[in-house]
Amino acid sequence: MKLDGIKACVFDAYGTLFDVHAPVGRVAAKLGDKADAVSRLWRDKQLQYTWLRSLMGAHADFGIVTADALDYALGAHGIADADLRAELLELYMRLDAYPDARRCLAALKGDGFKTAILSNGSPEMLEAATRSAGLADHLDHVLSIEAVGIYKPDMRVYQLAVDEIGVNAREVCFVSMNPWDASGAAYFGFQVCRLNRLGVPGDNLPGEIAAEIKDLDGLAAIVG
Ligand code: LAC
Repeated sequence: MKLDGIKACVFDAYGTLFDVHAPVGRVAAKLGDKADAVSRLWRDKQLQYTWLRSLMGAHADFGIVTADALDYALGAHGIADADLRAELLELYMRLDAYPDARRCLAALKGDGFKTAILSNGSPEMLEAATRSAGLADHLDHVLSIEAVGIYKPDMRVYQLAVDEIGVNAREVCFVSMNPWDASGAAYFGFQVCRLNRLGVPGDNLPGEIAAEIKDLDGLAAIVG
């Protein structure tokens, strides 16, 4: 499947370009056999809190949500370790990028596409992560939902990319590893390429996914 008329490629950040399980991976020895479960619960709660806060009209930035979710995950596993908590939050500020992320962004820019991140992350978190992972030079825009004060998949978030990049929705290829974000972006009107590294099913939500790739190296051929 090839997309038509694309001018800009817009990426989700956490889980798509950045490996959200890298922090727990770095301290896995301290968590023993709880490591994977803590990391998964941390991520699940983080996303739930974004949706719930959006529904409640009680926005707090992604740094606060991420810390609240970590506290939940550690508490649920009976872990009370302030140093470990601080270390994990610090590691979250400089996440590893997936190895194909920089290659993909560089190739797209070389082919003349605009490149952007559109993320729940706060501007500070995104600035730190893109810089430490060496992605900053390959991105034309780093857009945070803080500009609209509500989380994905609120339609105002996707509209932010249209307004800031100066393109029509149909000229955007949106790429996300998060199935619900892919659905939200497709429902908004982007041409969505779902990244599916793990071969898991998509969500049963409105919004038609245009294409699917198993790694980011596959993207250039789809938009080119
Ligand atoms: C983001 C979350 C959804 O980067 O991973 O927006």
